Amino acid sequence: MTHTPVTDFRRGFGATNRTDAWWARPLVIFVCLTTFLLYVTWAAFQGRHYTFGPYLSPLYSPELFGDSPHSWFGAKPGWWPPFIPWSPALLILWAPGIFRLTCYYYRGAYYRSFWADPPSCTVAEPRKTYRGENSFPLIIQNVHRYFLYIALFFLLFLAHDVWQALWFTEPGRGNASFGIGVGTLVLAINVVFLAGYTFGCHSLRHAVGGFLDRFSGSPIRARTWRCVSCFNRRHMLWAWLSLFWVMFSDIYIRLCSMGVWHDWRII
Ligand code: FES
Repeated sequence: MTHTPVTDFRRGFGATNRTDAWWARPLVIFVCLTTFLLYVTWAAFQGRHYTFGPYLSPLYSPELFGDSPHSWFGAKPGWWPPFIPWSPALLILWAPGIFRLTCYYYRGAYYRSFWADPPSCTVAEPRKTYRGENSFPLIIQNVHRYFLYIALFFLLFLAHDVWQALWFTEPGRGNASFGIGVGTLVLAINVVFLAGYTFGCHSLRHAVGGFLDRFSGSPIRARTWRCVSCFNRRHMLWAWLSLFWVMFSDIYIRLCSMGVWHDWRII
């Protein structure tokens, strides 16, 4: 009879019979997520260099208030608390932030890499009790389904930004003319990656048809569910692609605005 080695949890945190590098994956995730969090926090508080020509950084979109031509309602509002540094990103970034923070994939990823809870399969965790996500504070993760709807709206705003990134105003000319720059492509790829991530959301899969016991009699729901399931199968990949690209999009526009990078015009 073959014997499958199991973890002796009485040996304490980190104990395992595994001989592979089980710690590599949570370590890489920890480094990548920490880098992203540090950069986005820094960029959100800058309040400048977030536009270049017709481009608007996705970290600042939609720009509800601000000094750029992309602003919806004008300059910095008078009610902004004086003790908080002003930045247009602070008004909107919480929504996609909470959507990503409560994502089912990221929950599994950061529970392992930040809390070591558990560090990996069959690796002993730091505590002996298990409360799951049924009680406070982790029950709050259930807001994910509501932030999904906000995230879908954000996709519309970002797609509109791509449209705006097609119209360039040349110096000395009044009217904007059609064109495509590298920045246009950067923003377009950003929408594709974010759409792939959002359309594969587990909550969306449930909402469009996953809650049904049978699909017969609901052909449109069945087709939509299959479509969402298609994105859902690669949800982790879309999650990382979109995470990286949204950060890169801000870096691209920021460095163009600072004169460090040149935005090449393709058309
Ligand atoms: Fe990942 Fe909804 S589960 S975005």
